[in-house]
Amino acid sequence: MSRRRSFVAGNWKMNLNRAGAVTLARAVREHAASCAGVDCAVFPPFVYLAEVAAALSGSRVRAGAQDVWTEKKGAFTGEVSAEMIRDCGASLVLVGHSERRHVLGEGDDLVARKLRAALDGGLEAILCIGEKLKEREGGSTEAVLGRQFRTAFKDLAPAEFPRVSIAYEPVWAIGTGRNATPAQAQEVHAFVRKLVAERFGPASAEGSRILYGGSVTPENAGELLAGPDVDGVLVGGASLDAAKFAGILDSDRR
Ligand code: PGA
Repeated sequence: MSRRRSFVAGNWKMNLNRAGAVTLARAVREHAASCAGVDCAVFPPFVYLAEVAAALSGSRVRAGAQDVWTEKKGAFTGEVSAEMIRDCGASLVLVGHSERRHVLGEGDDLVARKLRAALDGGLEAILCIGEKLKEREGGSTEAVLGRQFRTAFKDLAPAEFPRVSIAYEPVWAIGTGRNATPAQAQEVHAFVRKLVAERFGPASAEGSRILYGGSVTPENAGELLAGPDVDGVLVGGASLDAAKFAGILDSDRR
């Protein structure tokens, strides 16, 4: 029996409009009130972050940003700092999401700098890691995850690690409807926990929350979350539908 609390997070990506974001936030808030055993967060687009955070204020649901820039302020057109995110009422940020890595070309070093900035700016972070289909088929899943993990955490002090969760999101499973099997997810999560143990020690590994992401639905969430090393889910598409996201929150059976 795991001592870790489950964490269900919704990544809204570049979806919804202002009214839709607030409506969805209110629906998540209402449902999450009855899910006392599960931690919950949503990640709206930057432009709706303050309103969503206000709609969630005082609730069990936290608001987070989908990205953060590496510097505190200055001439970085289009970028947003950790301080600005906090000023909007949010306390979390996604770092290294696969769409940022592979659509926008972010490398491991930039991801590490963003993680540094997030923590320095007082945010908690979800670090996303994951292999591409070619890498899985070529047998390099562990090498890729190991590289992403070690680079992201190269400058992190052990005392900072509790402010970071890790999301394993195989790139081939994101938005494709093709999710990893519960056994595949569990296998990788156990490997990631081993990486945490090597880098930060066994107690950190035991306490660390490792989420799975990639085509999670109310139908498959329960069996994914049954893996002893699967401590939560990071949900994209299904998090845009209040009933589906509620179903995922309900599927945690720890
Ligand atoms: P998906 O996205 O659930 O739509 O596959 C997951 C994610 O990218 O975080």
